Amino acid sequence: MSKLERAGFGSKLGVILATAGSAVGLGNIWRFPFMTGQNGGAVFIIIYIFCVLLLGIPCMISEFIIGRNGQCNTARAFSKISGGSAWTLIGYMGVLTGFLISSYYAVVSGWCLEYVWASLLGKLEGDPTFINSYFETFTQDPVKPVFWTFLILLATYLIVENGVRDGIERASKLMMPILFILLLIIVVASCMLPNAQKGIEFLLKPDISMVNGDVFLSALGQSFYSLSLAMGCICTYASYFSKHTDLPGSAIQIGIIDFIVALLAGLLIFPAAFSVGVNPDSGPSLIFITLPNVFQQAFSAVPAIGYVVALLFYILLSMAALTSLMSLHEVSTAFIEEELGATRKKAALMVTICCMFLGIFCSLSIGAVERYHFFGMSLFNLFDFVTGQLMLPIVGFLTSILIGWFVPHRIVRDEFTNRGTLDNNGLFHIYLFLVKYVCPICIMFIFLHQFGLL
Ligand code: PHE
Repeated sequence: MSKLERAGFGSKLGVILATAGSAVGLGNIWRFPFMTGQNGGAVFIIIYIFCVLLLGIPCMISEFIIGRNGQCNTARAFSKISGGSAWTLIGYMGVLTGFLISSYYAVVSGWCLEYVWASLLGKLEGDPTFINSYFETFTQDPVKPVFWTFLILLATYLIVENGVRDGIERASKLMMPILFILLLIIVVASCMLPNAQKGIEFLLKPDISMVNGDVFLSALGQSFYSLSLAMGCICTYASYFSKHTDLPGSAIQIGIIDFIVALLAGLLIFPAAFSVGVNPDSGPSLIFITLPNVFQQAFSAVPAIGYVVALLFYILLSMAALTSLMSLHEVSTAFIEEELGATRKKAALMVTICCMFLGIFCSLSIGAVERYHFFGMSLFNLFDFVTGQLMLPIVGFLTSILIGWFVPHRIVRDEFTNRGTLDNNGLFHIYLFLVKYVCPICIMFIFLHQFGLL
């Protein structure tokens, strides 16, 4: 496809909803609430807001700049902005990270679908031991999780193959408002439960005594993950933005939406959990074991409400996962389409098949064939580690260095200000300072800290 014919998002709303769809995902709904509760409540939220403002949004703008300047897939966009030098490798790393993460993200997204199905059939009813064993039995099954992984990948394929405007943009415009409405409905139901205020307090009460270096670093890592940075997603989507899209303005709006969804998820989970005296657990068990129990007990007075809330919750979770998965899929699809000259349908199909293939191994590695380990980890955890803890910070760090120190500021300014048509020169200087100094230093801290080097 020539540059002139290249597809793009059709509207400003499409840009915001599709990119926010990528950002809003499982990270907002179970990771953020728990981290907040554990790391000092309101204090963590304040630190998190600073991280989003000082690190997340500038990094997002950098990816926007690279993507829109390139008008092509992430690998080529890095090559273009850097004049074809060794920096191109970061683009390739971004594509690879996006691809690797999509197969394991698909596995967890598949679990969400299973839970939609199970709650629809009323299978998630029973005592806590039953619900616990339900999750164990399901993830250990050799076929079921793989089936659901395939199904969510098929859904992703059917959306992505239709292109940016008719596929991704349309699906995001439909799903994001539904997601938001469902979230609000469950938050209201949850906050009306007896003793709900205890959960709200747990989430929001500032507890300075819990703040230490770790809390800052957790907030930094979470802001990065939550905004889908360093995986090629933001850069790829930005390549579909029009030349009139206000890049900094859009990044700020997306950061706000992503934060609001995360906060609402906390207001959904904690009041319900505290109303029945359940201590919310971390990790996958929070959404797949603790919450089904909580919903059932909290709404036991009118079981139909418990049934509906659980069903809506898993639909909401699946939609959040699907919109993120679409963006991950698009990174590799655009890459194959443009680098191998494949048609969109073929490119999307190839990516889907490869993700399914890897998805089988990821899924089995935490279930049926758990005993096979690579570097002491299951394949699932290895993917999580390599992408989240290794490639993500490396790509993020190098992207900031590239934009801050190597790309001519004229190019960066042109993209930031839409060739001088936006009146945001003051903001540009702040951005440049953050991207030159603050972002690389902060990311370096996270990186060293997670390996115990700091
Ligand atoms: N931002 C997503 C979330 O919060 C995760 C994600 C990361 C999605 C990177 C796409 C790319 O769950």
